[in-house]
Amino acid sequence: MSTEHPDWTRTGFSTRAIHAGQDPDPTTGAVVPPIHQVSTYKQDGVGGLRGGYEYSRSANPTRTALEEALAAAEQGERGFAFASGLAAEDTLLRAVLRPGDHVIVPDDAYGGTYRLIARVFGPWGIAHTPVDLSDVEAVRAAVRPETKVLWVETPTNPLLGISDIAALAGVAHDAGALLVVDNTFATPYLQQPLALGADVVVHSTTKYVGGHSDVVGGALVVAAGAVLPGGLESPAGGTDVAGAVGFHQNSSGAVAGPFDAWLTLRGLKTLAVRMDRHQANAAAVAEFLAGHPAVTEVLYPGLASHPGHDVAARQMRGFGGMVSFRAGSEAKALDVCARTQVFTLAESLGGVESLVEHPGRMTHGSVAGTTLEVPDDLVRLSVGIEDVEDLVADLEQALA
Ligand SMILES: Cc1ncc(COP(=O)(O)O)c(C=O)c1O
Repeated sequence: MSTEHPDWTRTGFSTRAIHAGQDPDPTTGAVVPPIHQVSTYKQDGVGGLRGGYEYSRSANPTRTALEEALAAAEQGERGFAFASGLAAEDTLLRAVLRPGDHVIVPDDAYGGTYRLIARVFGPWGIAHTPVDLSDVEAVRAAVRPETKVLWVETPTNPLLGISDIAALAGVAHDAGALLVVDNTFATPYLQQPLALGADVVVHSTTKYVGGHSDVVGGALVVAAGAVLPGGLESPAGGTDVAGAVGFHQNSSGAVAGPFDAWLTLRGLKTLAVRMDRHQANAAAVAEFLAGHPAVTEVLYPGLASHPGHDVAARQMRGFGGMVSFRAGSEAKALDVCARTQVFTLAESLGGVESLVEHPGRMTHGSVAGTTLEVPDDLVRLSVGIEDVEDLVADLEQALA
């Protein structure tokens, strides 16, 4: 076998996910990147770094492998791996915003993202406006001279709202702002925001990328040529977003540890096959729920009745594995959550096992009383990759 390899960035998604950044170990030939559980590196004389490694907050070979694989998966210029999705978001916002700036956020964003922007960045002088991002003209109308970031989540958590990434990239760039897309629900297999004009992609790799509910992590992937908004200069010098994010990642230090990076990389390799099964199961579950008399509404972009169905069909390879539905009252929603036997009652999503939760009291409790409050009869399902007949039967008995 040749030691040469193709340019992985030009190969198909799964080939990139399995190989990019993951050449066999040069010393042993190990086909999986080792877990470099190490904090520091011997220098060959002062400043004589081997492969650029100095200290593991700054860089670690296992993390580098994950960062290169994520960059290739999203077709971006550089990837950065963090200790959680929110750590990734926090680092990005610090890198690209300054006091006095304004951010447009989805009016049904993930509750933790909203809490970070409103309650952590708010006191540091960052204003925000929640907007229905499916209404492009409403987004344009919300732009201010100080708007530096348009934050997009599509599909949204937990209402499965869809917004048009290419159209919103136009609005952001007309305003001199960055378009940031949280691609956690869709994954890079189903949706490629950078190719649609986004500047930065955000992930909670805790979810589908990790895929096995065994690791918390986050990632940023920056598009080639992305420039800081409003003529901002990076503390590292220059105006490129990737340079500023790299400076902040090292300066704030919320990095992914080597074992977490390794687990996440292992998950990434099987992302495509898992997503195919997740979404086939989710489509069947959504169809079952849509025909059930105890369900008042099903939120799944794969249903033709979903208001974002056409946009989703255009910009996604498939409709994903998340399904939400309304049970008619909070009591009924809580009752379903209590009765399932295969769907485990738990927060988080994107693992191989099916999960059920009540967003109002669980994942989205932090936005209660705000414009982002979710309906109290909402139930969210993370449809896993078990046998679909068992999933449908479980929901049938829980709804009976
Ligand atoms: C869409 C979305 N973005 C970001 C996050 C935050 O990620 P983490 O929990 O890894 O910090 C979550 C977590 O649920 C999420 O669902």
